[in-house]
Amino acid sequence: MLNKMNPWKKDQNPSGLRERVLQIKEHEVPSHIAIIMDGNGRWAKKRALPRVAGHHEGMKVVRKITRLANELGVNTLTVYAFSTENWKRPKMEVDFLMKLPEEFLGTFLPELIEENVRVEMIGYMDKLPEHTQKAVGKAMEETKDNTGLTLNFALNYGSRAEILDGVRQVLKDVKSGIMSENDLTEEAFSSYLMTKDFKDPDLLIRTSGEIRLSNFMLWQLAYTEFWFTDVLWPDFNEEHFVEAIEAFQGRQRRFGGV
Ligand code: IPE
Ligand code: IPE
Ligand code: MG
Repeated sequence: MLNKMNPWKKDQNPSGLRERVLQIKEHEVPSHIAIIMDGNGRWAKKRALPRVAGHHEGMKVVRKITRLANELGVNTLTVYAFSTENWKRPKMEVDFLMKLPEEFLGTFLPELIEENVRVEMIGYMDKLPEHTQKAVGKAMEETKDNTGLTLNFALNYGSRAEILDGVRQVLKDVKSGIMSENDLTEEAFSSYLMTKDFKDPDLLIRTSGEIRLSNFMLWQLAYTEFWFTDVLWPDFNEEHFVEAIEAFQGRQRRFGGV
């Protein structure tokens, strides 16, 4: 059991990767990394497989990257798994995606518990099928006191809806006197968002060559460093993750200053 979270099994340690990981740990590791996991469908298509085969393969990559993020001391790993717009997809694909959390957590939860990982979720949970809610809810409950990496699933998440809901709540709170207009700072508004318990992401990774946000964390990404790759999510591995963090460490963040 001890070596389970160890990503350094022989076949998974291409030359130099271990050294690069140690090197990364010498410097500032991004505290919150967000990933738009894209390209599952194209990965499957290239292999003449059904799109859902790509989603299944992609799930395995989440495990690998979670292990490495935990070992690197990353505080939060947010993975965009399903957007509020993804309901437009064929029912069969949506049904499959809604079953993935159960499969993922069914086999991975004991390891997450053992490795002190906390499972969280952002998104409209009550609109998910009951079985999906149950699986995610159970994982959240059973890991709520863990203090290692937070693995945060963005599931049925949409940033514009999130912002509008925040605005609606602010209006209500102003009306009822809980909040005054003058107190509505950026920090205060952040506390009205689903991400209220998280710091803004330091690093955003998007796979599959798409250079867009697709309604992901529009408010939270204001000063995040972006890293894009053509690699399709099911092909994404530890080396790509390390490459993204190395790129991050080479950036100079100015936040508008000099
Ligand atoms: C990302 O892969 C997973 C989800 C959006 C659920 P896609 O399914 O979008 O894959 P492509 O973009 O069609 O290749
Ligand atoms: C974004 O990917 C959503 C997730 C990765 C869950 P999409 O594949 O839905 O984004 P678009 O449609 O290409 O913008
Ligand atoms: Mg896509």
